Amino acid sequence: MRDSLGVAVIGAGMAGKAHAAAYRTAASLYNPVLPPLRFVSIGDVNAQFGSAAAQRFGYERHDSSWQAIAEADDIDVVSVVIANRLHREVVEGLLAAGKHVLCEKPLSDTLEDARAMAAAANAASTTARIGFTFRRTPGIAYIRDLIRNGTLGKVLHFSGRYWTDYGCSPHAPMSWRYKGGPGSGALADVGSHLAYVAEFLCGDIQSVSGGELSTVINQRPLPLGAVLGHDHSAVSDSFEPVENDDVAAFGARFPAGIGALEVSRVAAGHANTLTFEVFCENGAAVFNQRRPAEIGLFLHEGASANNGYRQVILGPEHPYLAGGLAMDAPSVGFGQNEAFVYQARAFLEEVAGVPEDASLPRCASFDEGVRNMEILAAVTSSAQAGGQSMTIPAPAFA
Ligand SMILES: NC(=O)c1ccc[n+]([C@@H]2O[C@H](COP(=O)([O-])OP(=O)(O)OC[C@H]3O[C@@H](n4cnc5c(N)ncnc54)[C@H](O)[C@@H]3O)[C@@H](O)[C@H]2O)c1
Repeated sequence: MRDSLGVAVIGAGMAGKAHAAAYRTAASLYNPVLPPLRFVSIGDVNAQFGSAAAQRFGYERHDSSWQAIAEADDIDVVSVVIANRLHREVVEGLLAAGKHVLCEKPLSDTLEDARAMAAAANAASTTARIGFTFRRTPGIAYIRDLIRNGTLGKVLHFSGRYWTDYGCSPHAPMSWRYKGGPGSGALADVGSHLAYVAEFLCGDIQSVSGGELSTVINQRPLPLGAVLGHDHSAVSDSFEPVENDDVAAFGARFPAGIGALEVSRVAAGHANTLTFEVFCENGAAVFNQRRPAEIGLFLHEGASANNGYRQVILGPEHPYLAGGLAMDAPSVGFGQNEAFVYQARAFLEEVAGVPEDASLPRCASFDEGVRNMEILAAVTSSAQAGGQSMTIPAPAFA
């Protein structure tokens, strides 16, 4: 166990701020098993963003290059929270410098880069993990428990959507999210989360079919200044083409059933709707990120005349919550920011050498990040082949 861990976050944008805040809260949860944390630096090429985030979240300094963070002796742990196409260079540089790295999803923007990153991670002496935040959502983790412990049992049918509306307005400014090859749009951005959640619940996807990718807003205005996250900042009257998908859909075959998955960044009225229903041999469950403190559960039990979906309010009996909130009572309310905290905590526990059976479930490996991208690449191939079915080999890792 180390004496202390120095923490840095690269990227002070929408998700970077969630990482910066999550590290601060992580040590205050559960049992005090972590070594003291030092909140050292926020790295961002935009010095104004870096400085504002460092001040807001109480980090000692800000740096304007990832190299400065790689070279710093007082930093051990780094989150990489920048545009997907930048992940490889930064992650490889940090691993070579001996840092522990938590990288945002999707692992990269191309499978080739993602595979190279996984090779670098497997060769490194430090820990490299990818943040699939929704596995930390108490309702999703609980539904998985119900599937695995046989209460719900085998999944027969999964229906999932991740609808967002950040690209709904044609006046929304051009940003890195609209650039890249086929499948690098909504499919990579939110489809990576949905595909991960689908496998988390239903088991390995064996094939995908009926792939559809659609760009419905073909050009976007250039921003007048720097754009953070989904901000609708002031724009110029110059436009650039949108290169990737606004909407994507596909079918998936799981070990025991099938699924339908749909993602969008132009779903008006749905800023952040990850929702799914799983139909299982013993009942069904429904989750909606808009109401993250509850799930719907239907079980085949009791008199059929009285049976139906019940609302299960999540609290200390459910995953992550006992000790995972300052006030861990039922119905206090929680959301996506807590999922970033549980993710940060799991990563820090692993880096600090807390045994697996005494820590939160470990974060996903880079191999799992590659696997996730292989599924998305197969969806893109299916779309390019008129919806043809694409087989996905079983993962080579446990
Ligand atoms: N897990 C989640 O729920 C979630 C949510 C949002 C985004 N993400 C992921 O997080 C990553 C970042 O997304 P975002 O929405 O926060 O992006 P963003 O556009 O809001 O922020 C990116 C930041 O990176 C900075 N930057 C650009 N180039 C840089 C460089 N070379 N070095 C250091 N900083 C640089 C920018 O100035 C900006 O502040 C993406 O991989 C995205 O998929 C994950």
